Amino acid sequence: MSALTVTFTEDNGTVKELSGETGQSLMQVGRDAGVEGILADCAGSCACATCHVYVDDEWYAKVGAPDAVEAEMLDMVDDVRKPNSRLSCQIKLTEALNGLKVTVAPLG
Ligand code: FES
Repeated sequence: MSALTVTFTEDNGTVKELSGETGQSLMQVGRDAGVEGILADCAGSCACATCHVYVDDEWYAKVGAPDAVEAEMLDMVDDVRKPNSRLSCQIKLTEALNGLKVTVAPLG
């Protein structure tokens, strides 16, 4: 495991630059730091969509698109879904994602 930095912008505009480790999910880093809007009700099982984020455009290609199961969960929050929507519990942190920036989506 190695350390990396990720940045969440909360829906209210507060920016939180956080330290995480490779192997963690992005949701774990946000939830453990109390990022507003990362409720993670299902604890990372891709079954609640309360860890929804918008990935910054410059990072989206590296993060990649959601798989079919995640895309189905994102359909449940269609009113706030955007082309760069991801569930942060499904984003596994790797060294390639050091510096990742996301914005927390409002609850759908
Ligand atoms: S924590 Fe429930 S879908 Fe991500």
